[in-house]
Amino acid sequence: MSAVTAEPRDIEQIPGYNEQIVRWFTLATVVWAIFGFAAGLFIALQLAFPSLNFGEYASFGRLRPLHVSGVVFAFAGNALIATSLYVVQRTCQTGLWGGRQLAILLFFGYQAFLVIAFTGYPMGITQSKEYAEPEWYADILLLVVWVVYLCIFTGTLIRRREPHIYVANWFYLAFIITVTVLHIINNLSMPVSWAGTKSYSQFGGVQDALIQWWYGHNMIGFFLTAGFIGIMYYFVPKQAGRPIYSYRLSIVHFWALIFLYIWAGPHHLHYSALPDWAQTLGVAFSIMLWIPSWGGMINGIMTLSGAWGKLRTDPILRFLVVAVAFYGMATFEGPLMSIKSVNALSHYTDWTVGHVHSGALGWVAFMIFGAVYYLVPRLWRTQLWSIRLVEWHFWIATIAIVLYITSMWVAGIAQGLMWRAYDQFGFLQYSFADSVAMLHPYYLVRALGGALYLLGGLLMAFNVLMTILRSQNQTRAGALLPATQH
Ligand code: HEM
Ligand code: HEM
Repeated sequence: MSAVTAEPRDIEQIPGYNEQIVRWFTLATVVWAIFGFAAGLFIALQLAFPSLNFGEYASFGRLRPLHVSGVVFAFAGNALIATSLYVVQRTCQTGLWGGRQLAILLFFGYQAFLVIAFTGYPMGITQSKEYAEPEWYADILLLVVWVVYLCIFTGTLIRRREPHIYVANWFYLAFIITVTVLHIINNLSMPVSWAGTKSYSQFGGVQDALIQWWYGHNMIGFFLTAGFIGIMYYFVPKQAGRPIYSYRLSIVHFWALIFLYIWAGPHHLHYSALPDWAQTLGVAFSIMLWIPSWGGMINGIMTLSGAWGKLRTDPILRFLVVAVAFYGMATFEGPLMSIKSVNALSHYTDWTVGHVHSGALGWVAFMIFGAVYYLVPRLWRTQLWSIRLVEWHFWIATIAIVLYITSMWVAGIAQGLMWRAYDQFGFLQYSFADSVAMLHPYYLVRALGGALYLLGGLLMAFNVLMTILRSQNQTRAGALLPATQH
């Protein structure tokens, strides 16, 4: 980007885009990133040093959902809303439907949901369903906010000035609609009292488990995957300066992905009371999922055709492309882990945690870092404060991921093998405590990886802050860059 000097203009007045709301959601993404990573590091340290469990309110069990919701709903959620509102306006050539007030309601409503849900966890207020921990009152608030989001997004699509709906918007829309349905069905519950914080699910026994993992797997499939493919389809071509490799492939893998994902949930319930045919159905659909997942991955990577050289000099593009490579890796490993004989080894072990974080740290968070570095200079109409710092962030975070996931893979496979080892008399060779003791060095390495990842996040926050300060100085001096319309 060249240092163009332009008259300072209010971005909102140019084509009617609401960029202010995108700025707020982008800042919220950065702030929640630090919160979520710090919570992750702390619980990782608690697993390595149990003496860090300071009583009931700061015990691992109470803080773990703070990390998981912190990174999934707060960090990734704010990033999804920020990027989707940016992309839908630019690809539809129109401002947001519903005006400024509705967008502001969306922002404060979503942050209020996060704060209300998170303050309950340390006090033990939870539905005890993974990724659906918030109790009924927070769920109702989220539902209202999410419907506002759906209305703003679809309203903007409907009033678009472009005849075509760009493929990134298809993925975003699938993510928003599916999350609405998942959220409503999995959270159908009856509060014990209207003034109380406890409720009971409308489903019982194995039905409850099936609904929960239909929800859980599709939160991965639509929140952490479809929405992020939306990000990929806008930001990778933009940063690479190349068109999507194959638009046809993007449409084909869209339909295949959303059709297949919805059926794969039972792979989380292998060897449980769930009927065997349902478990097998989960395996079959998980294996089929490999194909559309790799369709998306190949399309993302091949978009760089003719621009591979840029990877050497552009760390933002590197974040985005490495994210797509991690997506390929996690979606290769996932179908493998869904096979029952492999799952018999991996389930309950840290192998699952390694898989989760190769997707979470490598795919989800790297995609967000790339998008944040793309957005911040454009939203504040200046240049990024330091590209060198982005370079540092990239390498520190990459080393962090390698430490995190390799330690968890080795730990997980060792755990699984120890649990099934027999001696010559048919007795278990190791006690459960032996397998716990074996984990300590791996937990140290994971915590080191977490500390580095947090450090990378802090570098990003600092870079963003300095960029905004530079923008303010330039505003005062009347030397901002012109707004970009596309
Ligand atoms: C084709 C794609 C994928 C398939 C078939 C798949 C399959 C699986 C399987 C079989 C498990 C272990 C279930 C268990 O033993 O309980 C699992 C766990 C998990 N996967 Fe994937 N995976 C895929 C992609 C991804 C991606 C891209 C991400 C991250 C963004 C991800 C995030 C997770 C999470 C968070 C869990 C842990 C769930 C829990 O127990 O709380 N997966 N996945
Ligand atoms: C500083 C970086 C991070 C550290 C140190 C960290 C650490 C941890 C730890 C210790 C756990 C609990 C594992 C267990 O129960 O045995 C966990 C779970 C989890 N983390 Fe992270 N994490 C980090 C970043 C992230 C990010 C960026 C995401 C998502 C975007 C994420 C998503 C998750 C999820 C979904 C789980 C639940 C996994 C499951 O149930 O199997 N984490 N993390």
